[in-house]
Amino acid sequence: MTQRVAFVTGAMGGLGTAICQAFARDGHKVVAAYHPQYDDKDKWLAEMKEAGFADFVCVAGDVANWDDCVRMAAEAEAQAGPIDILVNNAGITRDRMFAKMDKAQWDAVIDTNLTSLFNVTKQFASKMAERGWGRIINISSVNGVKGQAGQTNYSAAKAGVIGFTKALAQELATKGVTVNAIAPGYVATKMVMAIREDILKSIIETIPMKRLAKPEEIAAACSYLASDLAGYMTGATLNINGGLHFQ
Ligand code: CAA
Ligand code: NAP
Repeated sequence: MTQRVAFVTGAMGGLGTAICQAFARDGHKVVAAYHPQYDDKDKWLAEMKEAGFADFVCVAGDVANWDDCVRMAAEAEAQAGPIDILVNNAGITRDRMFAKMDKAQWDAVIDTNLTSLFNVTKQFASKMAERGWGRIINISSVNGVKGQAGQTNYSAAKAGVIGFTKALAQELATKGVTVNAIAPGYVATKMVMAIREDILKSIIETIPMKRLAKPEEIAAACSYLASDLAGYMTGATLNINGGLHFQ
């Protein structure tokens, strides 16, 4: 497999960690982009080293902040070279029924989960097109596809991720750059573990497979989408959700 340079946002979270590890196993150089307020970077790096992943390049930046993304991308390219594979993975929830949701909860989720795709993808997409090869993978959600009570902000942002993916895929289709989305179901990470226990239990009951996804089961799709042989797939959304929702 050709060695590429991959840039993963939210790299030190549950899914991000699995994606970084999958890319490293595939032989790619990995830039782990993390939130500037994340305090455990050194601990994370030590754990990665212990698990046999010693070569991650780390850059800090807030994906919701344009200026941060400009600086973070320049730092990444200076340390790792041109970026071939981008995974827009960073994300947050601020769950609340719409009647009680405030403007700050709406804005935080739209800025972090959707506007971030503009902020980060802008740094790399045209350069991928100029070089004639690129892979852009956007992490959406089953709840962007089906909608979820308590998540008007999140469902709107994650549906927006799919629209962004389909539009940019068309713009880059002749340039060797594919743009795809993954819509995971409920994955065992801290995002899901933050759901109230009784509510989470009732959600799991609705999943035909009766279990959460392992982060590795989502990261495997990133490996595939980043590969040369995925070159004919673009504008797609891969639904990986234990049977929770079919389109
Ligand atoms: N559909 C319709 N109405 C619902 C509902 C549902 N699924 N769930 C609750 N309601 C109603 C309740 O009956 C209640 O109605 P009344 O006021 O008339 O009694 C009202 O909404 C308030 O419900 P709660 O008591 O649950 O409200 P709360 O303020 O305690 O909690 C909440 C609201 C935080 C949104 C909580 O319901 C919740 O956590 N829900 C789960 C949301 C969810 O699935 N989040 C996923 C997070 S992980 C993730 O997002 C990753 C991913 O991509 C999959
Ligand atoms: P997670 O463990 O909470 O990871 C999210 C990561 O994003 C964290 O590392 C977080 O950093 C980072 N992040 C948040 N805001 C950021 C910002 N403004 N700038 C830079 N980084 C930021 O959750 P996860 O489950 O791995 O989520 C990864 C992605 O998968 C998200 O887009 C999520 O919406 C999506 N997803 C998750 C599930 C699921 O069930 N878990 C299902 C479908 C889709 P801090 O922790 O330091 O804030």
